[in-house]
Amino acid sequence: MVHMMRENEGIRELTFVAELKDEIVGHIIYSKGSYILQSDGTKKKVLNFGPLSVLPKYQKKGIGSALMKYSIKRAKELGYGAILFFGHPTYYPKFRFKEAKEFGITTKKGDNFPAFMAMELQEGYLSGVTGKYVEAPIYDDSLTKKSAKEYDKLFQ
Ligand SMILES: CC(C)(COP(=O)(O)OP(=O)(O)OC[C@H]1O[C@@H](n2cnc3c(N)ncnc32)[C@H](O)[C@@H]1OP(=O)(O)O)[C@@H](O)C(=O)NCCC(=O)NCCS
Repeated sequence: MVHMMRENEGIRELTFVAELKDEIVGHIIYSKGSYILQSDGTKKKVLNFGPLSVLPKYQKKGIGSALMKYSIKRAKELGYGAILFFGHPTYYPKFRFKEAKEFGITTKKGDNFPAFMAMELQEGYLSGVTGKYVEAPIYDDSLTKKSAKEYDKLFQ
């Protein structure tokens, strides 16, 4: 998935690795292509990120937090408006993510649940924006499973 994102929907200037003594121990990538579909049919572009990953033996040392904090700061500086995504509901609130329902945004199917989160990067970007969140196709497993399997064969 990351390989495909690097070729298409991934945002190069919002892709980072964490290094420790020349070893890559963590990674984050953001993507374009996600948006909020409003009732009048207009689309409000938003960022999505993921996967965020830290090598198991280096977890719980603040590396995931460092990747999150730095990438959020850079996304703000680059002028992106908001982030929406699905993730662990107990991990991300510390970075100021809130449930998407607080912004009046639902999933494509009209649902809300704690794992569906949002954050404004520019104040007011989501003010008055209500609608359904449509995720970039890269996150749809059913579309990518076959090509991911093909790619994995390169390492067998
Ligand atoms: C989630 C992940 C990126 C966190 O990275 P990390 O470097 O371990 O995170 P930090 O050191 O910054 O923070 C650790 C804290 O997050 C908590 N945490 C880790 N994974 C969590 C999860 N799945 N749900 C809730 N809390 C979690 C830890 O318990 C720890 O809490 P503490 O500080 O109170 O002890 C890492 O555990 C990971 O790579 N997991 C596997 C891949 C994954 O699930 N990625 C996220 C979804 S795309």
